[in-house]
Amino acid sequence: KTIAVLFGGCSSEYDVSLSSAASVIENLNTEKYDLVLIGITREGTWLRYRGNIEDIRNDYWHTHLGCTPSFFSPSREVKGLIELVHTEYHVTPIDVVFPVLHGKYGEDGTLQGLLELSGIPFVGCDMLSSALCMDKELAHKLVKAEGIDTARSLTVDKRERMEEVLSAAQLLGFPLFVKPARSGSSLGITKVHNMKELASGIEHAFTHDNKVVIEQNIDGFEVGCAVLGNSDPMIGVVDEIELNGHFFDYSEKYSLKSSKIHLPARIDEDTASKVKETALSIYKILGCKGFARVDMFLATDGRIVFNEVNTIPGFTSSSRYPNMLQASGMTYANILDKLLELADA
Ligand code: DAL
Ligand code: MG
Repeated sequence: KTIAVLFGGCSSEYDVSLSSAASVIENLNTEKYDLVLIGITREGTWLRYRGNIEDIRNDYWHTHLGCTPSFFSPSREVKGLIELVHTEYHVTPIDVVFPVLHGKYGEDGTLQGLLELSGIPFVGCDMLSSALCMDKELAHKLVKAEGIDTARSLTVDKRERMEEVLSAAQLLGFPLFVKPARSGSSLGITKVHNMKELASGIEHAFTHDNKVVIEQNIDGFEVGCAVLGNSDPMIGVVDEIELNGHFFDYSEKYSLKSSKIHLPARIDEDTASKVKETALSIYKILGCKGFARVDMFLATDGRIVFNEVNTIPGFTSSSRYPNMLQASGMTYANILDKLLELADA
């Protein structure tokens, strides 16, 4: 089978994608698969890459002479896809595309829509599900409508008057989280404790997206579930994020300086089953397929509160998603085989 692995991408999670993709490429069994590596620069140009994995990891990949662009104008994925279809699909028929891309234009349904249009099977959620999971407002609305708890929140767009937004948000009670509605790895998110921080938090979030959600803080801790499958998915061992002070922002996520991930989560079996059941319901409500990491809070009052779904979760060999499945007996390579199988099913 010929597998096209996409990496990079014009989203703020470009660097995360490079790490995830390097691990994926390293672990794909080359006796079983022929790999076509396609890097997407920060500007959105698609390049066929034939170099080594280390240069993906350290972001030198696009300096290789072997990279062959055919679109020189800064383009986004649309042009890249046309290039992929024209130069690769006809010469080397691609059986499955594995988009190892995080965030905007990779994980948000746009690329998935183009792949659906191209007719090439691909790993992960479809266009609609990817788009819904990327949008924190819509995902919360749908999940809440099915009776699952979510944090109380407020959605703001750029046209709204700041004074009105501030007074409505204040009613939710500090501390609050201000989040770009569609972002990843906590980029653009701030935890705010007063009106001044709230105002600057909103301004900051608007630099990432033109829609912002303001959410109540949930007392408790975050737990995650790695879900793998289409109609009858399996779930790995539940993990737990222990914070020490701050919140799980970009730097904490990738440095784990003060926070710690417990695998398994320090919860009893009964609670772990409830967490898994909830994750499965969320996966189904949002129409997920292939894989996703479902993040929830276990509130101090015992409630399981939905946080978000990552439809292309971080995938380095030390990332939470593969770790949770490895804890339930799979190897990293098994997970990749299964994902490629599911793309075709
Ligand atoms: N958005 C990052 C990659 C994650 O959820 O793991
Ligand atoms: Mg995320």
